[in-house]
Amino acid sequence: MTAVTATTPDAFRPALHYAARSTWLNDPNGLIFHEGLYHLYYQNNPEDNVWGNMSWGHATSADLVTWTEQPVAIPCDEQEDIYSGSIVFDRYNTSGFGTESRPALVAIYTSAFKPASEHNGVQAQSLAYSQDGGYTWTKYAGNPVLNRGSAEFRDPKVFRYESGTTSYWVMVAVEALDFKVVFYSSPDLKNWEFLSSFGPANATGGVWECPDLFPLLVDGDPDNVKWVLTVNLNPGGPNSGSAGQYFVGDFDGVTFTSSSTVTEGAHDPARLGEYQWLDWGRDYYAAVSFSDVPDGRRLMIAWMNNWEYANEIPTSPWRSPMSLVREVSLQGVDGAPRLVQHVARELTSLGSGDPTFTVGACEIAEGEHIMDGAAGSVQRIEANLAPGTAEEFGVIVRGNGTRGTRIGIRPAEGRIVVDRRESGQTDFHESFASIDSAPVQPSGNSYDVTIYVDRCSVEVFAQGGRVTLSELIFPTCTSTDFSVYASGGTATINSLKITHLA
Ligand code: FRU
Repeated sequence: MTAVTATTPDAFRPALHYAARSTWLNDPNGLIFHEGLYHLYYQNNPEDNVWGNMSWGHATSADLVTWTEQPVAIPCDEQEDIYSGSIVFDRYNTSGFGTESRPALVAIYTSAFKPASEHNGVQAQSLAYSQDGGYTWTKYAGNPVLNRGSAEFRDPKVFRYESGTTSYWVMVAVEALDFKVVFYSSPDLKNWEFLSSFGPANATGGVWECPDLFPLLVDGDPDNVKWVLTVNLNPGGPNSGSAGQYFVGDFDGVTFTSSSTVTEGAHDPARLGEYQWLDWGRDYYAAVSFSDVPDGRRLMIAWMNNWEYANEIPTSPWRSPMSLVREVSLQGVDGAPRLVQHVARELTSLGSGDPTFTVGACEIAEGEHIMDGAAGSVQRIEANLAPGTAEEFGVIVRGNGTRGTRIGIRPAEGRIVVDRRESGQTDFHESFASIDSAPVQPSGNSYDVTIYVDRCSVEVFAQGGRVTLSELIFPTCTSTDFSVYASGGTATINSLKITHLA
């Protein structure tokens, strides 16, 4: 019999999150719903499970739960690596890459030019098109289509801007080292004209990458539309390393005006907590949204990893999962619209027929308490917890006994913490074992927390989805215990429901 160890291939392979079969992935790219399928392209090394040979991998899903890996969509070659970008459905055949009856999908990606190219050292934007619904791609002979002569100009997100009778393509990209988002417009995806730029603002502790821009209704009100500009940055996140921030404001087709800018120019490290974060955890990066999702839903997905230790995480043969798919909306919070995030409903409805473990009102005595019958490694935990005299209280998941990943509330500090110092393998990188935290507020006198545990990760949604924390963990496959705990006093479980999802 083979020994089961944490490095046994696929001991960490998630059940609900996408990971490539046997290769490396980073940023999600070209997210689009098209002809009944969600397409997830991504930064992929087709040859290995560390970063390199950047190409676009591809997976498809009908339900956002089960993904099918497809052949590599756009491979690198001797001239260029294929860096991050987006895909649009060119419905009106503005590019001429399709026909009126069969319009093409068009990928807008960053060419990271190599020594064999006349553009060596430059990052510029290029096109490829697909006439078979996204499986095979042809590069445009006129590439690159937008070249600023910059070595750090990348990650184009393109969408169709429509206002009254005008409509045109808008590209949102970054000048990474300048902490600037740049906006361009085009009638045909081939010719681009500069519109404006935004930044530096708020967090600038690392290069700006992978921006996105989209409108959302505030509190579902069709007369109150705000635009959300998301910008990922590396490093400089609130708990170290890679993270994503967002701004809320207005976009008039030319300029983005932020109403959530706290600092302009170089940021103030002491004010990191005042900026708006897509996720406070260590492992939620390069988040971007899907195009053309039916019913106006705005769905986002991120790479679950952190450039601090990305190439060293102990999974094999694959490396790095994607996050779960999230639906984002805007909620007025104290007069300011803020993002609220929930796992997409296709995932929240999972497990309705599966065994659940429930606890009603019950006091947590000081200490750590394993709950029989609640063990698991793929589960949704929905808890409502009230403070008592404890300084910190919460749950311990993927435990070996009570040694596991702690997710707890510190009411006096007003923070929710994810403590992964005893989460399993941590020694592959000095910065991995960490206690990470986010500000959190009770609703009334209690805290609502929903946690998705999926073998090598926890995704935590608190305060009705206002606060999220996503982190990788690497416990041995036999660490499945579930506990509740209260340190330095007591706390109360108002309700607790665990649904097994494997
Ligand atoms: C973000 C990033 C992007 C770039 C890609 C290269 O993680 O650095 O800016 O396009 O990864 O793989």
